[in-house]
Amino acid sequence: MKVLRFQDLVAQGKVAGQRVFIRADLNVPQDDAGRITEDTRIRASIPCIELALKAGAAVMVTSHLGRPTEGEFKPEDSLAPVAQRLSELLGRPVPLLAKWVDGVQVQPGQIVLLENCRLNKGEKKNDEALARKMAALCDIFVHDAFGTAHRAEASTYGIAQFAKVACAGPLLAAEIDAISKALTNPARPLVAIVAGSKVSSKLTILKALAANVDQLIVGGGIANTFMLAKGLPIGKSLAEPDLVGEAQAIMEMMAARGAAVPIPTDVVVANEFSAIARANKVSAQSVQPDDLILDIGPQTAAELASIIARAGTVVWNGPMGVFEYDQFAGGTRTLAAAIAHSPAFSIAGGGDTLAAIAKYGIEKDIGYISTGGGAFLEVLEGKTLPAFEVLQKRAAE
Ligand code: 3PG
Repeated sequence: MKVLRFQDLVAQGKVAGQRVFIRADLNVPQDDAGRITEDTRIRASIPCIELALKAGAAVMVTSHLGRPTEGEFKPEDSLAPVAQRLSELLGRPVPLLAKWVDGVQVQPGQIVLLENCRLNKGEKKNDEALARKMAALCDIFVHDAFGTAHRAEASTYGIAQFAKVACAGPLLAAEIDAISKALTNPARPLVAIVAGSKVSSKLTILKALAANVDQLIVGGGIANTFMLAKGLPIGKSLAEPDLVGEAQAIMEMMAARGAAVPIPTDVVVANEFSAIARANKVSAQSVQPDDLILDIGPQTAAELASIIARAGTVVWNGPMGVFEYDQFAGGTRTLAAAIAHSPAFSIAGGGDTLAAIAKYGIEKDIGYISTGGGAFLEVLEGKTLPAFEVLQKRAAE
């Protein structure tokens, strides 16, 4: 993917003294008192900001926070806690500017945080007049908000169209590189793990990956629907019987080109969904009418681990079972360990997947951990994200 990169502009000495507008994704979770509970996205935005400051740019940074009503400021929508956290991480004051669309005072070597961009009327609808005003604030627009790359809003898309220069920041560029390495030009075999409660919510992803991957490992409720499609009993387990036809079509489509969806040969069942439920390991053929499948069994986990050990690339989205409860965590833990030990390039994304990675402490062993939630899923669906599209267009001018 050919986009202009901010690092290259810095290396070419084109950033000193320039007004640089960075669109970051600082949309972090907060508790009821407004305290930030998880700051990965803020930390991930630091390299771009430091690069711009060190290069001698006058730096403006903005982000959305939540989904506020445009034009109606409420204290809980403010980026004030984010400004505070940024200031701690950068070791310098980060002033927060409330009204900024019509002009921003900032000197080279300084940073200012621009209040929640979704408070501006026209932001969500990518209003052209608003986007042009934002573009006029800067010499260089830097898109560094992968988490928002699937949105075409004024501060993510329109500004990229109208700014004098529009480029990808280091975080967005790293995501682009990891995605290209995993999906455009993957080392084979390419193995995807797609798990979650429902086939319906991930049907487009399953179909898009079925056309590309060599092994499609399914887990959770999705695996139950595939088991049903294979004629296996699943008791009272979560599944979508009306999508059995879709599951069969995916398996046939893959089989036709020598690829496969490995179906569990054993599972872990219980007769209730709870932290104290008693877990039983049974073969896939002997699931009873009252059983709930809550994890894959050890034999299946070992088989999948050996597929991962032989992979060239692994794409991971979703845990294999109810890993929050230890008695149903074996499948997810075994696969996490297999990915961590595999020489394959691995890319992981999605809230539950990140929670599993954190639980097993394998962050350093994953090739790339995406900061995108919805954006990562849209990439897996095979969609071209608006951010990638507009930056490619600008690079081709
Ligand atoms: C996210 O949290 O996934 C991103 O920040 C995008 O937020 P949005 O879904 O409100 O656009």
